[in-house]
This record gives sequence, structure tokens and C-alpha cells, in this order.
Amino acid sequence: MRVYKFEVFTSDIEQNILNGVYKPGHKLPSVRELKKQYQTSVNTIQSGYEHLMATGLVVSIPKSGYYVASLLHKPEENVTSLPLVVRDATFERHVELTTSSRGKKKIAEFNVAMPGDLIISQKLLLRTMQQVIRENGVALLRYYPTSGSEELKANIIKHAASYQTRIHPQELLITDGALQALHIALAAICKAGDIIAVESPCVFSVLEVIRVLGLKVIEVPVDSTSGFDIHFFKKACAKKKIKALVITPNFHNPTGALLADEQKKELVAIIQQHDVAVIENDIYGDLHFNSKRPVTLKSFDESGLVLTIASYAKTLAPGIRLGWLSAGKFFKQAEQIRFSMGSSVSPVYQETVNHLLSSNSYARHIRAFRTQLATNAHFTLQLLSTYFPAATRVVLPAGGYNIWVQMPDNIDMDGFYKHCEKIGVKFTPGYTFSFSGMFERCFRIVFADKYAAAKIKALELAGAWASR
Ligand SMILES: Cc1ncc(COP(=O)(O)O)c(C=O)c1O
Repeated sequence: MRVYKFEVFTSDIEQNILNGVYKPGHKLPSVRELKKQYQTSVNTIQSGYEHLMATGLVVSIPKSGYYVASLLHKPEENVTSLPLVVRDATFERHVELTTSSRGKKKIAEFNVAMPGDLIISQKLLLRTMQQVIRENGVALLRYYPTSGSEELKANIIKHAASYQTRIHPQELLITDGALQALHIALAAICKAGDIIAVESPCVFSVLEVIRVLGLKVIEVPVDSTSGFDIHFFKKACAKKKIKALVITPNFHNPTGALLADEQKKELVAIIQQHDVAVIENDIYGDLHFNSKRPVTLKSFDESGLVLTIASYAKTLAPGIRLGWLSAGKFFKQAEQIRFSMGSSVSPVYQETVNHLLSSNSYARHIRAFRTQLATNAHFTLQLLSTYFPAATRVVLPAGGYNIWVQMPDNIDMDGFYKHCEKIGVKFTPGYTFSFSGMFERCFRIVFADKYAAAKIKALELAGAWASR
């Protein structure tokens, strides 16, 4: 087996984490300290930390340093025991989207996966929209091409090239957000009754698109640390004719899991071998906390079987209804479906995003936004570790918006949600993340807004109830 130079220090850190000497949230030695201690180069230390981050044990917080990432008390609920079955895309449990949707009190909303009002670059967005309206005038009142503005597409292609994702202009469609892109992609590949594979857990809105299209599903386990279960998926491909896979390889919602490059490569090889199309949802890809933007499945594919979708709902604001689909070899069908939904996406949004991408404002905004999210993620983990029962399982993600929390077996979850309702705290319950109503002991917490004192107190009270 190959031995890397960095193992002289990474093996020490791994041992200390696994033996509990370094606890979750513990700040690890700086690159400079390790360089001196192990008499090695900065490059070696940095490669070592990249390796530790890829294993999920360590996270980097920009401008702060490296930290121990996760609390690993036991495997996540149900993920190891999912049966390989084909099921109808219908919800077994009535889905109530938040823990306290009926409650009037709104003190601490951790349930909606969108940037909060205090974190959105309001000035930048509103100023840009006004400028775009002034500069483009009446042209914004006409239809734009069905596949989208050529200039905007060129800018999206340029940005994607910075993370090794080559998109051809002839396969790119501008859409009204990522969910619409998903709808178009699935409708272009499948017809009602076809079998697709989907992650479990998976965000409700994605499951809803699958339900509306009348597809059948095989649920593939995803774990916060090991990610999408490629082995399970491979077995499913060998047993069933799967038309498509829907997956979020970068900062999965809700687990935050990130597939390593090697896993991405392996997955692409499997889908090519079995002729399965993949729709990869890269909506969170730009929101990485480490220095390197993760690559896409598409960056390993030449066959046209990988379709990528994304949008600016998470990176700019959810009201900017603009996303895209690189449809690979399904472009023609996809373009027709897009046309049936209205001949063009709003020119105002197209020009706004085009302006932000071409002026570098997007890149600048994303840098600051990532730092804020990383800080929030770390702070949320600290609050959960402080106030929730010791056996609560949480894993710090390396990007995105969400932490997936698994409560200990002895907690009465109905009682917990009732208490949350009373104190005005909203989480999204775990059972909304699958058709079969699994993940009863889990909930999703979104950290994409600033923390006011009342919000911190609310988490403390929710945790205190569970710990009593
Ligand atoms: C994984 C994922 N995909 C898609 C969406 C929706 O994206 P959009 O608003 O661009 O349609 C969300 C929002 O929650 C999401 O988490």
C-alpha cells in the first residue's frame, strides 16, 4: 500500500480523534506548528489536512483553522438496514414540513433551507437589479431564447470550467430554479412507471417532483460521513432496470455528505456500465468551507449520461428564480419540455445573474458568504454539543446549509416536537425526508442565517428538554 509523506502527522491526529483525546470542535495545530514539529514542508501538511477533511474527521473554518469534525456515537438510523426494493413514490406519512407549522411563535426558524434575510446580500442584489433594468430597458419585456441568454450561458460555462466541469453551450438550458431543472431532466429521461434511484434521506421537494411524475423508486442509503452507498447502488443496477439516479454529491441535503473524487469517479463508471442517466444536483457546490471547490460527477463523464442541475437560490437568494440544467445527451427532449413550461425564464433574473457573474461580484459575494456559513456551521455544532444530550449524533458538514441531527433512542420525539412548538423553535422532522417515513429520530437544522440571542436561547431550551 502506498504510504504518503503526510501520514507522519495525520496518523497521530487520527489516533487522538479516535481515542477521544481530541473532542469534536477541538482546534487542531496550525500548519506552521505542524511544519515545525514534524520538520516537513507546508505542502505536506496541507495535503495531510486535505486528506483528513476527505475522511470527514476534520473540517477547516476559513480564517480560523482546522477543527475536529464529528460526533460519531453510532451509525445513522436505518441507513445500514434499507431493503433493496422498488416502491411507489407516495408518502406513507402525512408530511408536515416543520416541527411547529401551526405554532404562532416564530423565535427560531431552523427549518427552511434558504439564506436568511440577514445573510442575503440585499444591497448588491437590489442595486444590480435596478442597474440591469436601467441598462436593458424595454428588451427585458420581450421573450428571451428558450434555452436562455447566450451571454449568461457563456458565463455559467466559464464558472463551471473553474471546477473542471466542461459544459457545452449546446447542452445548457436556463431554468426557473433547480427544481424546475430536475423536473425537466426527469421528464426528458423517464416516463411514468419507470424506476429511478434516489438518496435516502432526501429533501422533500425533490421527492415531490418524483411523486408528481409518477415514477417508482429505489431508495439508496446516504450517511453523513460515508456519503452515498455506492455498493448498494451497484447491486440495485445489477438487479433492476434503473432509468436514472437523482443525487446531490456535494453537500447533500439533509446530511451534508460530500462524495470524494474517487467515489465520484467510481459512480460514473457504474452508471456508464449499466447505461443509467444521472441527475446530479449541484445547488450547494459553490458553498464549500474548504479552499477547494468540489468537482462534479460531470467532470468525469464523456458519455452525456450525466446531467447537472444548479441554481442561485442558495448562493444568492431564493427569490432570484434562476437555475440551469446541462442536459447531456437529453438536451433536445429537455429543451422541448422547458418550452412547454413557458418560452423563457424572466429576462430580469437572467440579466441580473449575468451581471453578477461577469463583474466578479458573484465570486466576491461567495467568498464572504462561505466564511459566514462555515462560522455558523461550527457555532451550531457547538450549541448542539453543549445543550443536547451527550448521545446526540451530529456531523459537521464541509459545506452547504444543513446539519442532520440524530437524537438518542430514549427521547420521545413527539414530546420533543411539541415542546419546540411551545417555545417557537422550528426544525424539519426526519420523517419528511423519505417516502417511507423513516428517520423518526432525526431532524434537519439549517444554519443559513445570523444568530440573535433569542435564537441561541431557543436552541438551549430545546436541548434542555431533551437532556432532562
Ligand atoms: C437539494 C435541493 N434542490 C433543490 C432545491 C430547490 O431549488 P430552487 O429554489 O432553485 O428550485 C432545494 C431547496 O431546498 C434543495 O435543497
